Amino acid sequence: MTIKGPDLTEGVEIADIPQGGTLLGHADGESVLLVRPEGAEEVFAIRPTCTHYGGPLAEGLIVGRQIRCPWHHACFDLRTGEAVAAPALDPLDCWKVERQGSRLVLRGKLTRPTPAPPARSPESVVIVGAGAAGNAAAEMLRREGYAGPVTMISADEVGPVDRPNLSKDYLAGTAQEEWVLLRSKEFYAAEKIDLILGNRVVALDPKARRIELSDGTRRGYGALLLATGADPVKLPVQGSEMAHVFYLRTLADSRAIITRITAKESMRAVVVGASFIGLEVAASLRTRGLEVHVVAPDARPLGRVLGPEMGDFVRTLHEEHGVHFHLGHTLKAIEESIVVLDDGSRLPTDLVVIGAGVRPSLALAEQAGLQIDRGVVVNKHLETSAPDVYAAGDIARWIDPSTGKGVRIEHWVVAERQGQTAVRNMLGRREAFNAVPFFWSQHYDVNIAYVGHAESWDRIDIAGSIAERSCLLAFRSGGRIAAVATIYRDKESLEAEVLFERDDQDGLEALIARARR
Ligand SMILES: Cc1cc2nc3c(=O)[nH]c(=O)nc-3n(C[C@H](O)[C@H](O)[C@H](O)COP(=O)(O)OP(=O)(O)OC[C@H]3O[C@@H](n4cnc5c(N)ncnc54)[C@H](O)[C@@H]3O)c2cc1C
Ligand code: FES
Repeated sequence: MTIKGPDLTEGVEIADIPQGGTLLGHADGESVLLVRPEGAEEVFAIRPTCTHYGGPLAEGLIVGRQIRCPWHHACFDLRTGEAVAAPALDPLDCWKVERQGSRLVLRGKLTRPTPAPPARSPESVVIVGAGAAGNAAAEMLRREGYAGPVTMISADEVGPVDRPNLSKDYLAGTAQEEWVLLRSKEFYAAEKIDLILGNRVVALDPKARRIELSDGTRRGYGALLLATGADPVKLPVQGSEMAHVFYLRTLADSRAIITRITAKESMRAVVVGASFIGLEVAASLRTRGLEVHVVAPDARPLGRVLGPEMGDFVRTLHEEHGVHFHLGHTLKAIEESIVVLDDGSRLPTDLVVIGAGVRPSLALAEQAGLQIDRGVVVNKHLETSAPDVYAAGDIARWIDPSTGKGVRIEHWVVAERQGQTAVRNMLGRREAFNAVPFFWSQHYDVNIAYVGHAESWDRIDIAGSIAERSCLLAFRSGGRIAAVATIYRDKESLEAEVLFERDDQDGLEALIARARR
């Protein structure tokens, strides 16, 4: 980032920083953002870019003494820089701000406070699954001052990865593999997190507080987090076991697709499913120059989640990038270099990627006798039906406080935040999980952000223009606004998130009215 604005070690007038706004400057060769919350006496000095993917915090939202990132809604404490809500996991650097009359002067970086010991300290914590929820949970235990043994076990051969990237930049060839790993081996060693890879937990005995691994070893636990995620739905189609047919969940899956493309010089691909993952795969394969055909039973891509107008826009967007759609069709068979559709038409292909949705990985929870209802049932503290056993992420079904109905949600940020809440509760916080669901999906240069949760809707209000890529869609269900989707309206997406948190339907109506202007 090029350094801009005033040298803050020489000072600035407080009046130059707008109330409820920011001012970009620099100190000792680093960019610094001054943040002045509305109506507050204090001004804070932070690193201006988010520690997740570098989102510009000056374009984010100040909420009390916190700032939220415009790109994927990470939330930071302005006083300490602490990343209080995922997807950012690292804190922001903060500077000491000294007041001299009408001026503010920066006086070096603040040192991070050492966390106080937690109210409750289980003898040990075992985390089953090293994905979004598991990794965020393990890190949060240390950030909360827990000093006991932490073990994280994964069936995968590699440590936690940035799973959303597997269908986006990594698959497109625009992100290197080291960027995809969330942390290095050295990180886990330094944090004293015992990471056991390539080993599946095959049994959980909540009465004995013990687990058994696929290598036959057994371990006890004081508290346990189940975060086993989800597995791709396998299509029962003739030929789906062939070597050129792929599913995408893990780094190994994404690597295997890339290897196939490069080793076999594949030129034509069929993507089965017009889901978020299917379409992201289509976009990435187009970036690699493949001819891409999408086959799906739906009338339009993403229509069931985002509605007809946004679905049509997404279709046109992909068509403009050269994707061919075969909608309203299913697969009949896969052959060596042909995919046969239900109407008998035949698509030549070198590669098939199936994105037909996922099923929560419940085998371990079922074996342990936990309460299950299309997911592992958890209470508002993310506790399962067994003592000191928590669940988070794609497997967890909890009561959405805004509707009082059970929900199970497959979003990266939700999984991370649940992992964080679950372990804070292991440490005695008794914190209700009430984060508003958020996800994003990237299609070429268009990022769709979605806050809230609408399993179905009666009406969609559109403010702005979808075609012009500046819009806000409000999904209404049973007389209330249940979710908001946006393209290039990041601030409004953040505002909607805050209004959902406050259950402020009038505020949401006002936001939509403002978005129309
Ligand atoms: C390609 C792709 C792209 C995505 N893009 C987005 C996106 O853009 N935005 C978004 O919001 N969401 C996205 N998602 C969804 C998001 O990644 C998931 O919701 C999230 O990863 C769920 O986190 P989790 O911790 O529950 O499970 P996971 O991240 O899947 O982790 C589960 C872990 O459990 C391990 N495991 C399972 N069973 C066992 C066992 N018995 N013993 C030991 N280990 C076990 C697995 O090996 C894995 O390490 C995407 C998903 C995929 C696959
Ligand atoms: S870049 Fe800030 S949350 Fe992703």
